[in-house]
Amino acid sequence: MTTDGLPVLHTLRRGIPGTTPLVLLHAFPVDHRMWWDVTNLLPGDRTVLAPDLPGFGTSPSGPDVAEMVGADRDVPSVDVMGDGVAAALDQAGVTRAVVAGLSMGGYVAMSILERHPGLVAGLGLLDTKATADDDAARAARLEMARTVLADQRVEAVFGMRTSVLGATNRISRPDLVERIEGWIGDQGPNAVAWAQRAMATRPDRRDLLAAYTGPALVLVGEEDELSPVRVARQMAYLLPDSDLIIVPRSGHLTSNESPQPVASGLSRLLRRADAARPVA
Ligand code: MLT
Repeated sequence: MTTDGLPVLHTLRRGIPGTTPLVLLHAFPVDHRMWWDVTNLLPGDRTVLAPDLPGFGTSPSGPDVAEMVGADRDVPSVDVMGDGVAAALDQAGVTRAVVAGLSMGGYVAMSILERHPGLVAGLGLLDTKATADDDAARAARLEMARTVLADQRVEAVFGMRTSVLGATNRISRPDLVERIEGWIGDQGPNAVAWAQRAMATRPDRRDLLAAYTGPALVLVGEEDELSPVRVARQMAYLLPDSDLIIVPRSGHLTSNESPQPVASGLSRLLRRADAARPVA
């Protein structure tokens, strides 16, 4: 599905018209392909849409998406990612969906909840956090952005092929390490730098979660070193109506390390969103 100048929405599965679709937002620094493993395990009646976030995969660059949504081309932001996805969904005729994101995708899901609340029938936050970066994390991101732009290569983020995995799978799943390296290698330095600058300025969204009364899922790998379990527990505590799932023997990339519990959690979130839907 293409929408000129907006993030490209990949239809991973076409479900029965009239059912609430599921929108899956990918992590950094990969693209929509990370959702393939989960999609195969989701209920067949649901449409599953997975955008490539600005600059990643097949999508236009961050500055181009910013221009399309009326934002400043020179200011990378997670809100540009969220506004771009919301505009692409609107163009595709999607007015309400369960919106779930992993890590960077979670930051984008929270932006969509804040800026386009009517779109969100249910919220899935996987291996992510609602807090802003501290000064050290922000500085590290800006340094990483400078490095990839200076190198004009993404080698500087190849370390994530293992750091996104749990200690167990780093050793036992060389196939997964290789797939992730392939996905990272397909991204461009401009996308990586733009996203790092965008994430560096994202706001704290804990108050947003506390005020959201719709159905939510918080899911985390028990070996996640980037968005650890204690952070997931805090988000689940803040959200008034949330399920918390802690996935054993999995790290940050639960979507690929343990797709079955991720699919089960998302399926239950879809059912809860249906049950919560106001009757016309
Ligand atoms: C991700 O997996 O998307 C990243 O770890 C997000 C981040 O850098 O905060």
